[in-house]
Amino acid sequence: MYLTKEEERILAGERGEVLERMFRLLVRLGDIYGADRMIPVGSVQVAGVSYKSIGDPGLEFLEDMAGKGAKVRVPTTLNPPGMDLVDWRELGFPEDFAKKQLCIMEAFKKMGIMMTATCTPYLVGNLPRFGEHIAWSESSAVSFANSVIGARTNREGGPSALAAALCGVTPNYGLHLDENRKPSVAVKVNAELKHNSDFGALGYHVGKLVKKGNPYFQGIKGADVDQLKAFGAAMAASGAVALYHVEGLTPEARLMDPKNLEVIEVGERELKETCEKLNTGREPDIVILGCPHASLKEIATLANKLEGKRLRKPLWICTARTTKETATKLGFVEQVERAGGKVVADTCAVVSPIERMGFKRTAVNSGKAANYLPGFCKQEVIFGNVNELLKKVLA
Ligand code: F3S
Repeated sequence: MYLTKEEERILAGERGEVLERMFRLLVRLGDIYGADRMIPVGSVQVAGVSYKSIGDPGLEFLEDMAGKGAKVRVPTTLNPPGMDLVDWRELGFPEDFAKKQLCIMEAFKKMGIMMTATCTPYLVGNLPRFGEHIAWSESSAVSFANSVIGARTNREGGPSALAAALCGVTPNYGLHLDENRKPSVAVKVNAELKHNSDFGALGYHVGKLVKKGNPYFQGIKGADVDQLKAFGAAMAASGAVALYHVEGLTPEARLMDPKNLEVIEVGERELKETCEKLNTGREPDIVILGCPHASLKEIATLANKLEGKRLRKPLWICTARTTKETATKLGFVEQVERAGGKVVADTCAVVSPIERMGFKRTAVNSGKAANYLPGFCKQEVIFGNVNELLKKVLA
């Protein structure tokens, strides 16, 4: 791989141990995947934040880096931690978990990373432009950035994203290159998609089938931003899809030629079977919405659905803290709380230790959450659209 003089100096350790270590990781990645050079990135999203996912080894690594003076060179935002960073006590998060989580946050803060604590950085100010090279490591955000915005990122791991943040570059391979953004399979959709959960079910089904491919969808008549974020998140979870195109909807679809591709057909029957497969429980202990993190529009819609109603069971709407703050100013949080629900900031169902908090059966409208909750949180899952889920818990 071609390296500039400055990059060679970094690799020789002339800019300190931390940079050398991190840059070496990027060079190794570039060598494995045949990159010709490093390219500057406009922003980084760092995942691997919850103490539940990274544990003590992760915390030690981050404290070591921060202690040695590691500082990010490009705007860098952060994925959700394992708890609401303000209301964790009131919500019942375990004290021992919280202590460790706060140390993790402190290490990230020391490195100059913005404490956005959300998997939807594009909703809270980290919005790349079409064609911009970035290095993001939250799979749902990677999918959204590549597919809906047309920015360019590989599915970075936690360490490679951190390395890109500290070095300001990423190796030029994979989805940074035109040839790898072409569709690999066409998916003809012959089903009505109304709710986020319909998009979640379709995404889950197609992700399982195409794994790492770039699907090109035909027959999807319309979708809003919230539905697309749910769609991509599910595909990235059940498979490893980092880029999809939707004819007439996503920006690169018109540049692509779907002729001669293998075709997969998906109809109502496949979606119904997917929903049945995702449903492993019946009566929820809790309903958790906001995977990926809820937008202001989603919170407003939910607040209006809850107006004048009373919940029999806990309901969390997970979102970014800045979104919660706006929703508070606009009165939506109070509206949710009047019904007995909570707008939970920073964290989410999957990365928080809900299995330690007494919950065994969780209701979700997200294909991604439904994919991870049984294994990662030992939950039975009740999967459905938001109206069906609310019906189960309203008095
Ligand atoms: Fe985000 Fe958690 Fe879902 S990180 S995409 S809300 S599993």
